[in-house]
Amino acid sequence: MAFTVIKHPLILDKLTRMRKKDSNSKVFKENLDEIAQLMAYEIFQTIELKEFEIETPVAVTKGYKIAKDIVLFPILRAGLGMVDGIVKLVPNAKIGHIGLYRDETTFEPHEYFAKKPQNIEEATVLVLDPMLATGGSANMAIDKVKEWGAKNIKLVCLVAAPEGKENVEKHHPDIDIYVAALDEKLDSKGYIIPGLGDAGDRIFGTK
Ligand code: PRP
Ligand code: URA
Repeated sequence: MAFTVIKHPLILDKLTRMRKKDSNSKVFKENLDEIAQLMAYEIFQTIELKEFEIETPVAVTKGYKIAKDIVLFPILRAGLGMVDGIVKLVPNAKIGHIGLYRDETTFEPHEYFAKKPQNIEEATVLVLDPMLATGGSANMAIDKVKEWGAKNIKLVCLVAAPEGKENVEKHHPDIDIYVAALDEKLDSKGYIIPGLGDAGDRIFGTK
């Protein structure tokens, strides 16, 4: 469907803080949380609403609520860093988990955990991962949520490489992709250049 780079001065400022190699885990996590929230604000601009009647203290008027369930699927581990920011805007969102790790030499993703909420067929599903590098992990996660019956799927990433964008567009032409930046390329180790390094390690302090 569509590939959108969500451009906003606040996002650019915060992403720059994340990219800097000297930013510690606290700064990295705080800015990831805030960018995820800002991206969700943009993505949900077109979300379907249900109209209903409410009473204010002095009158009866129309009220609105989000029509369909929202389900977030962070790809573990790094996708977890995007959940809280979005949940601040949509507190009723349900959360599934897809655990994948990327083999360091082949870059192939491997699944180690998958759990979903019930009835995701009609929901708006957001697959979350800060990094879209080769696109292998995103493709595997989208395969999984499709297998579970999800039909309205959006992939939300912070930084994408052109290779990952093309790979997901080829395998899943029916989904919308949102990113905060489309970077230059992948290096020989599968890292996004200029990127921000290993998102999972920077969030969880594992290196
Ligand atoms: C990273 C990242 C993505 C994946 C992207 O995860 O968070 O899930 O790599 O690469 P790809 O587009 O080439 O598949 P990693 O496998 O390092 O696991 P982690 O989140 O646990 O660190
Ligand atoms: N995974 C990351 O965390 N960073 C990259 O640059 C590529 C894959």
